[in-house]
Amino acid sequence: MLDFALMQPSSTIDDATLHELAEAFGTPLWIYDLREIDAALTLVRDAFPHAHLAYAAKANANRAILRHLHAHGVGAEVITVGELARVLRAEMNPAGIVVGGPAQDRALRELARRSGVGRISLDSVSQWADWRDDGGWPDGARAFVRVNPALDPATHEHMATGQATSKFGLAPDEALALAREVADAGVLAGLHVHAGSQITDTAVHDGVLAVLAPLYDALPEAYELDLGGGFAVPGYPYAALAERVTSFTEARGLRLWLEPGRALVATAGTLLTRVLHVKEGVRRHVIADAGMADLLRPALYGAHHPVRAVSDGSTRRSHDGPTDVDGPLCENADRIARDAALPDVLRGDLLAVELAGAYGLAMGSHYASHTRAAEVVIDGGGAPRLARRREVLEALWADEVDEEGEGGFEFLTFGEAAPTAG
Ligand code: LLP
Repeated sequence: MLDFALMQPSSTIDDATLHELAEAFGTPLWIYDLREIDAALTLVRDAFPHAHLAYAAKANANRAILRHLHAHGVGAEVITVGELARVLRAEMNPAGIVVGGPAQDRALRELARRSGVGRISLDSVSQWADWRDDGGWPDGARAFVRVNPALDPATHEHMATGQATSKFGLAPDEALALAREVADAGVLAGLHVHAGSQITDTAVHDGVLAVLAPLYDALPEAYELDLGGGFAVPGYPYAALAERVTSFTEARGLRLWLEPGRALVATAGTLLTRVLHVKEGVRRHVIADAGMADLLRPALYGAHHPVRAVSDGSTRRSHDGPTDVDGPLCENADRIARDAALPDVLRGDLLAVELAGAYGLAMGSHYASHTRAAEVVIDGGGAPRLARRREVLEALWADEVDEEGEGGFEFLTFGEAAPTAG
């Protein structure tokens, strides 16, 4: 038996602990260190002591993380009924939840109405119509109107949401018209912008605030500003941003909402993976048991995650020449890291993929019938605990419908939307 209780709390997880966790729970394994979440929260809160933080649940919706954030007074930003259900299941306070996103379907609206969410961010005029015409505006909720600031957020194209060409928000004049209508209906809280993700430069928010200033001048009823999330990890210059944002909100008497996702959880997460094979050649290929079905970001965005060899106490020589850390699947994009700086690596070694707590398992998939890894939480006070079991093979087909029986074609009913011949 492993005696986790003997482990000393530390800000990073030491290599002996990583070995023990791999033994106890297998690999690949997600490990979340809640102490790192606390440190990240401190960074954001030191800069924005009066802001309400609505954690973007899409970054990592593990209940242990949601509960931890809730215990620290954090709310949530959700865009699907699944996210809303998960944050409610984690007992988050509905008043601190903002429902956003470009869709907002009926299921989401119904649960939002029943649960009493505090804010709804309207992304289009038709969403406003949907809320009112199909069930009525939720009692007690207030609206943000999402503005498309039409600027270059200087990030990867897939994460840029504030360009004029992106689907998000309304052009400033249209946003103002909708906000006026919402204000006349008595439910306006303010405006919302999320310009993009993994933003590194505070100049982006200078641009956002310049777009928002004349809109707030025309909306005396507005009392809040939701500036979204998007703060890069690592190293976002919060103090510089806070200076600009605070002078904007204080001058107008606005309460600030922020929706950090990555910023709160990225540093807390490590993906632990075991080396299956090592192939020397033009490039050294280290074939690991985790890949794009676990951590999609390198394949999808060319994202860089530091990878280090977890020491087993033996001495390893350094290695010359390029190394890729590849995943177990048959696709060239199935890669965890390109040009990783790793010493001599042997079969069975453990690798730690760092800064992986955001958009990791959350974007994982069953590609090639890969089963999802387990998640473990460390909070310093007690033993590491399993927060989500490793998926069993049955999860791969649990929702398949037996060809012979129930759910076969003859049982399908086409409703009003049935395709008609001719
Ligand atoms: N608020 C809104 C309206 C958002 O759309 C997002 C993220 C956030 C807040 C949180 O952004 P964050 O603070 O985490 O940057 N899958 C990508 C990131 C996509 C983010 C989408 N929206 C990745 O792996 O980097």
